[in-house]
Order: sequence, then C-alpha cells, then structure tokens
Amino acid sequence: MLLSIELVAAVADNLVIGRDGDMPWHISADLRHFKELTTGQSVLMGRRTLESMGNKPLPRRQNLLLSRTLSTVPAGVELFHSPQAAVRRVLAQGARRLMIIGGADLYREFLPFCRLLHLTLVHLSPAGDTFFPAYDALGFRCISREEHADESGLSYSFVTLEREEGAESVFWQWLNQTREG
Ligand SMILES: NC(=O)c1ccc[n+]([C@@H]2O[C@H](COP(=O)([O-])OP(=O)(O)OC[C@H]3O[C@@H](n4cnc5c(N)ncnc54)[C@H](OP(=O)(O)O)[C@@H]3O)[C@@H](O)[C@H]2O)c1
Repeated sequence: MLLSIELVAAVADNLVIGRDGDMPWHISADLRHFKELTTGQSVLMGRRTLESMGNKPLPRRQNLLLSRTLSTVPAGVELFHSPQAAVRRVLAQGARRLMIIGGADLYREFLPFCRLLHLTLVHLSPAGDTFFPAYDALGFRCISREEHADESGLSYSFVTLEREEGAESVFWQWLNQTREG
C-alpha cells in the first residue's frame, strides 16, 4: 500500500487507554518512545486527545485533527471533518506514513486496515473510561517485543505487530465511502 497507516497506543491489560481525559499512568520512558516513533511524521488525533495535550500541537510533527464540531483550531494544527479527508490530505502530499495517535474512535476506525500497531502494553488493569479495540483475533503477528520495568516496579512491553495479510481492498473501499470533508 502507498501509505503505511500505523496505530500508536499505550494499552493496559484490560484494554484501558484513558480515564477522565488523561492516561491512568505516567511512564516517562513511554513518552520518550512515543516521541521517537512519531517525530517527523504525520500524526492524526481526535479532538479530545488534543485537549488532553493542553490543546497544543506536538512539535516537529504534522498535527492532523479530527472533529465534527470545531471550526477553528490552534496554530500548527490542521482540521478535518472526516478521517477520509485527513487520509486524502496525506496521500496528496506524498507522505509514506500516517500515525494514528488516538483516541478510541480513531483506533476503531483505522484498525481494520492499518499495517502496524506500535503498542506499549502496560501490565496493569486500571479503572478507565476509554478503551483500545480488541485486536487479538485480527491476524497481526508480533515482529518485535521489548520488556521493561520502571523504578516503581511497573512493567510494560514495547511491541510492534504487523498485519499478516494486506488489507488494501478494505482501505480503498473505506477511502471511497465519502467524498466530503
Ligand atoms: N493510552 C493512549 O495511548 C492514549 C492515546 C490517546 C488518547 N488517550 C486517552 O483517550 C482519551 C481521549 O480519547 P477519546 O476516545 O475520548 O476521544 P478522541 O478520539 O481523542 O476524540 C473524540 C473526538 O474526535 C472527533 N472524531 C472522532 N471520530 C471522528 C470522525 N470519524 N469524524 C470527525 N470527527 C471525529 C470528535 O470530535 P468532536 O466531538 O469535536 O466532533 C470526537 O468527539 C483521553 O483519556 C486520553 O488521555 C490515550
């Protein structure tokens, strides 16, 4: 596929990714890992995820935002009203990768045809209100895994999962669903 669509998320054992507009944990090494993965790339996020970052774009990345309600956005953020419109924008500029950085709606939207999942598996089962979609049965294979623990003993794994079979036709069908936005 022309464009590599990649999901980047930190996911607890019970699939929780958020609580009260924030993440239920703080792992500095994971923030550094996220920065390494995404710097220099186009990142696409939902309106509440931008709010969780203080409404500020991530530096040294192309920040693409999805919202049905906003009409103005902070400087350095590009607004789209549909995920297809955002994808057409990055295709038109010739980008090779698009990193989907949350939240839950966006992960669900892109999971059926994304190429890679960059997951930080956080070995906790916290209370939460926002969840990563189930992905076990979707035919991804693990291509890298690193185990870590922080100073408090919290263990987490950096894993990369690759889709075993291409989902190009699913992607093109999805992209052509709508021409608005
Ligand atoms: N653990 C992680 O890796 C991770 C990553 C990201 C976020 N999070 C956490 O997840 C939570 C935020 O995520 P969330 O799932 O609540 O919200 P979100 O996905 O960040 O934002 C949802 C909003 O995005 C817009 N949107 C979503 N799908 C759209 C579509 N198809 N077309 C147009 N606009 C669309 C809508 O904005 P409007 O309402 O303006 O129309 C929607 O209300 C926070 O707790 C955050 O800390 C965790």
